Amino acid sequence: MKIAVIGKGGREQALVETLAASPCKPELYTYPGSDAIRQTAQAIPTGSFDELISWMVDHHIDLCVAGEESYLVKEDGLANRCARAGIPCWGPTKESAQLEASKEFAKDFLVRHGIPTGKATAVAGYEEALAAIGGNYPTVLKFDGLAAGKGVAVCGTAADAEAFLNEVFIQKRFGEGRLLVEEYLTGPEISIFGAICDDHYLILCPARDYKRLRDGDEGPNTGGMGAVASRQLASPELLKTIEDTIVAPTVRGLQADGLPYRGFLYFGLMLTPDGPKVIEYNCRFGDPECEAVMPLLRGDLASFCLRGARGDFAPELISFDGGWSVCCILASAGYPASSHSGDLITGLEQCGARVFHCGTRKTDAGWVTNGGRVLAIVAGGATLDEARTRAHTEAAKVDFDGSQRRSDIAYKNM
Ligand code: AMP
Ligand code: GLY
Repeated sequence: MKIAVIGKGGREQALVETLAASPCKPELYTYPGSDAIRQTAQAIPTGSFDELISWMVDHHIDLCVAGEESYLVKEDGLANRCARAGIPCWGPTKESAQLEASKEFAKDFLVRHGIPTGKATAVAGYEEALAAIGGNYPTVLKFDGLAAGKGVAVCGTAADAEAFLNEVFIQKRFGEGRLLVEEYLTGPEISIFGAICDDHYLILCPARDYKRLRDGDEGPNTGGMGAVASRQLASPELLKTIEDTIVAPTVRGLQADGLPYRGFLYFGLMLTPDGPKVIEYNCRFGDPECEAVMPLLRGDLASFCLRGARGDFAPELISFDGGWSVCCILASAGYPASSHSGDLITGLEQCGARVFHCGTRKTDAGWVTNGGRVLAIVAGGATLDEARTRAHTEAAKVDFDGSQRRSDIAYKNM
């Protein structure tokens, strides 16, 4: 079996290594990949998105796995192109990926299908936004399009809201687009992952990510500074509520709306005093949650994804270990406002945990930083305490100039 994994980060390396460990022993290819991913998967030697599809056809690729979201909505969509070329794709069509690409589309979908979520109003301009907020703070403002995790502002005061509205409507920092004014919700957050195949689904191991840069949930939002994963993160009762009120109605809604879906679907939830509510959908695995979840996966992920992409759902092919997994991210100097490349990474040989590379490059001198999030250091254990102690101890052995790491991953909010 030949599988191409599309993407270049730590999530994609975790997927590639888990696919590589599948008993069916697939041959792996990667686009655009990274030096680290290319240790396990062969590079697809093409620069453009157009050539990627013809290369996969010419090389008889059996399955395309979408890692990052951008390709799902790029031009006419990765899955749409794969479908036309006859290549099974694990990842949804461009139309279905609007659940992630447009907050307004997602909100309309949630409301139409009676799925619990915060109340929201879509607005097109500055004054309209202020009118929709109506002096109620805190409020949550969400730019409608893809904004690399930077399009959401939780605003405690009118001054915060005005500053963000200025960025969106005057400076047009994210380009043209509308905005959702959303009700402020409270409660712990949890990331639930579904594997969806038409009208079937499997709920995978839940996780929690840590979005703020610094300890104590302080500092700016990032792509994620760490994650903890375990089946024990959610009680069976809570998971049943999430399945009945959120996951199953979402899958029925996709069917009812004629939105084809075969792939991972990420439900970002807030466990409010009124029950779990959806704060966002992502049409792919989370990053860094994927780096924490994949080491817990047992079975044959490659066959699971291939059969799912062909419409032959086979949930019996995978399961999850009952223990815990903790992922600590090392980020480069300046992240998230900027990033720093070329800093030499030390201590990788001493590190006794799994290491996934989010943004690195291999040079003659060794691995160097090459992006904002640099490395994901992941450790497992039968207990939460064992997993988090190991993850933090092993992460502390790795270093580079200006490295940033949270020391409360899997402690805070547990
Ligand atoms: P999103 O990109 O929609 O996941 O939002 C990013 C982060 O903003 C979430 O992880 C939450 O911490 C926060 N957030 C989003 N929506 C709300 C909401 N309605 N109420 C409170 N916080 C929110
Ligand atoms: N960890 C959040 C995300 O993948 O969007």
